Amino acid sequence: MVNELCDKRVFPIGLGTWGIGGGYWRRDESRDKEWVEAIRYALGKGINVVDTAEMYGDGHAEELVGRAIRESDREKLVIITKVWPNHLEPSKLKASAKASLRRLGVKHVDLLLIHWPNPSVPLKESVRAMEELIDEGTVYCIGVSNFEGELFEEAIYSVSKYEIEANEVLYNVLERRAERTVLPIAEKNGVKVIAYSPLAQGRVFADGRVKSLAERLGVTPTNLALAYLIPRAVPIPKAERKEHIDDIVRSANVTLPEWAFKEVSSWK
Ligand SMILES: NC(=O)c1ccc[n+]([C@@H]2O[C@H](COP(=O)([O-])OP(=O)(O)OC[C@H]3O[C@@H](n4cnc5c(N)ncnc54)[C@H](OP(=O)(O)O)[C@@H]3O)[C@@H](O)[C@H]2O)c1
Repeated sequence: MVNELCDKRVFPIGLGTWGIGGGYWRRDESRDKEWVEAIRYALGKGINVVDTAEMYGDGHAEELVGRAIRESDREKLVIITKVWPNHLEPSKLKASAKASLRRLGVKHVDLLLIHWPNPSVPLKESVRAMEELIDEGTVYCIGVSNFEGELFEEAIYSVSKYEIEANEVLYNVLERRAERTVLPIAEKNGVKVIAYSPLAQGRVFADGRVKSLAERLGVTPTNLALAYLIPRAVPIPKAERKEHIDDIVRSANVTLPEWAFKEVSSWK
């Protein structure tokens, strides 16, 4: 189980914010109050990792996270945000991170990630700029997202002063490619894995195998999906509805028997 991220103790499950405050570079302010309440509700239940990105809602997701955390103890939170691949050239990366800080209303983000690789910008240059942000104190630790295989290894070796803290990748009971392309490298190098779309964007609820296994275990599909990931990653489900957040939080107390891991591993 991942107990800490960026030197802070963390709840084993974080909260995603894709779809909160709009979509792909598109802002939506229509449900701000509900969205802020949902994030606050999750924080109130003990979740202390929140994942966002400059791209989500064209920055509005970051603004809503900023509003939601205003009353929280900042030191206990791990705020993750991500730089879009068209901003990886050093001066753009720094400007992008500073804009994220402004929208979040914070003096630092805990974990800054490269959202997707961009082969047209040398990785070392982007990583150097990120390390300079650590030196300035505006970023506590750095990482990547959607890096696998050799590219992930290249990222791990691209640092000169600090370490790659985490790699955020697609990982859920139905999509387990990361078990081959990411987890062995992460575990060998002490890099944490953050599992995005841990509920397969809702597809786990329609999958007969998930439903049957969850029923036999006497847990919800959410509990099964998240408990499967927790030993090796920090899942970051997105949820707006309070009953969904409650279900997510309860998953932290579910331990699966070995046979259940084996059964999931046999799914093609
Ligand atoms: N780094 C990347 O490239 C990348 C890519 C994709 C996602 N992400 C991050 O990962 C986060 C999570 O992934 P995701 O948003 O793609 O999908 P997800 O977390 O797999 O699924 C989210 C969906 O599941 C529903 N849900 C949540 N808990 C539930 C429950 N207990 N019972 C029934 N339904 C439930 C949510 O509904 P409600 O919202 O209605 O509650 C929402 O529709 C994102 O929000 C984002 O922060 C990162």
